[in-house]
Amino acid sequence: MPKIDIDGRAIEVEEGVNVIQAADRLGIEIPHYCWHPGLSVAGNCRMCLVEIEKMPKLQIACNTRVTDGMVVHTKSEKTVAAQKAVLEFLLLNHPIDCPICDQAGECKLQEYYMDYDQQRSRVPLSGKVKKGKAIPLGPHVMLDQERCILCSRCVRFLDEVTHTHELAFYERGDHNELALAPGRTLDNPYSANVADICPVGALTNRDFRFRARVWYLERADSVCTGCANGCNIELYHREGRIFRYMPRFNPDVNQYWICDAGRMTAYQLQSEGRLLRPVVRGDAAFAPADWKDALAGVAERLQAAAAEGPGAVGIVVSAQAPNEEVYLLRTIARSLGATLAGVSWSPPDADHDDLLIKADKNPNTRGLVLQGVATEPSAVDALIAAAAAGSLQALVLCRADLTAWRDADTVRAALERVPYLVVLDTERREVVEYASVVLPIATHAETDGTFSNHADRVQRFHRAIALPGEVRDGWSVLGDLAAWLTGQPTGGNAEAVFAALAAECGTFRGLSYERLGGAGAPASATA
Ligand code: SF4
Ligand code: SF4
Ligand code: FES
Repeated sequence: MPKIDIDGRAIEVEEGVNVIQAADRLGIEIPHYCWHPGLSVAGNCRMCLVEIEKMPKLQIACNTRVTDGMVVHTKSEKTVAAQKAVLEFLLLNHPIDCPICDQAGECKLQEYYMDYDQQRSRVPLSGKVKKGKAIPLGPHVMLDQERCILCSRCVRFLDEVTHTHELAFYERGDHNELALAPGRTLDNPYSANVADICPVGALTNRDFRFRARVWYLERADSVCTGCANGCNIELYHREGRIFRYMPRFNPDVNQYWICDAGRMTAYQLQSEGRLLRPVVRGDAAFAPADWKDALAGVAERLQAAAAEGPGAVGIVVSAQAPNEEVYLLRTIARSLGATLAGVSWSPPDADHDDLLIKADKNPNTRGLVLQGVATEPSAVDALIAAAAAGSLQALVLCRADLTAWRDADTVRAALERVPYLVVLDTERREVVEYASVVLPIATHAETDGTFSNHADRVQRFHRAIALPGEVRDGWSVLGDLAAWLTGQPTGGNAEAVFAALAAECGTFRGLSYERLGGAGAPASATA
């Protein structure tokens, strides 16, 4: 392995690492714009110039691979002068937009100006070249040509990752500008990633711009629930409100990217139809109930229904439910002798591709399968048929709106014949109309848990925002119910429930929240 000296400190790195990466491992920042670890090297911004001994001129660190014995200076007089000069050049025609620019707070021009430049502009405002502002490129991205530093990250993303080539550079000299290729729109399924990788405020996300200043936002590690890929995301929020998803690097799942459809699911989590308190049906209408009474009533009625004989109680769990809820529903089903069926429903024409997007639009289909829950439509159809025949005394639906997935009229007629229907969900969906009890549970942004993606990788999501209203964690509600029915405590948090799952189920054996860490781990490898 080559050994390199950077600013007087030695480090050994593997072959192929560039000087920016080697310095980063020592905690030394080499400023850069055009280099991005997920794209080819362009070497056009010159911001990463460093002095390397025995080389006659300054070298760009992004395109210089370390060699044994290399000695690099990132803070020498020559390097500092180059950093200042490059920044002055990049800012020559830059507009004074910071107060109204949505990139403020995460803009590399702002940051590097403060760290490496801090000189006054030699070009008066009136002398700057004017270019286009607020140009919509497609449904998700807005372009401000004046702010663009021509680093070509966006162009390379569209050439190398999506292969859709919507953007290119036109004109020459200080009139050189980024624009759409003639007749094109930036509307490929991954278009918003260009706004994430733009190091300045030239490309901004139309769904997020002007909604919040980034320094007010907090972030939590999470997982996208838009499909079975389970892309890793950062969920940005403030005071209980979700503002955006951004991709989180995971080399085994999504690299640096997420799709636009998944990104937009952030805005579906806080709809006006949120269920906010437990309710129990009175003579006709629902009446608010307290959690203790509601759960005691559910446990008693389920036990009474189970006493009617095998097959009297049915439970349906969808692949929207995390592993912890599936485990607790299995425990409940066992104690009641109930039939448990899984639902993994996606639209018949669901989109998919070879990059990230999966046709399975559920985050946890494999979690159901790995725990042995049947997901064939016939399993749910059998329960619907039993309900229609009047042989089902009680039915529990967990995140499972059957009217949306099977023939709605058949389901409605069947549900009308179920004497006792328990609905656990996040939103008011059609099955709620038929419920005897409605128990509001958390979205994945409000609780802790795990999903198993299409490749059986188990990944954690974290509580980002507080539970709204009287909503409770799904694992907590089902844990109380399971404890009530079995007489056994099920643990006071999601981690304990997952530990119980790992102890009981072969494919999860050896896994724990600690072992999953931030990147997840494969389930099958530990079986
Ligand atoms: S729009 Fe942004 S990412 Fe694209 S070339 Fe300009 S500065 Fe680079
Ligand atoms: S590919 Fe799937 S998991 Fe990834 S961001 Fe898109 S919808 Fe979400
Ligand atoms: S990051 Fe090296 S030249 Fe742009």
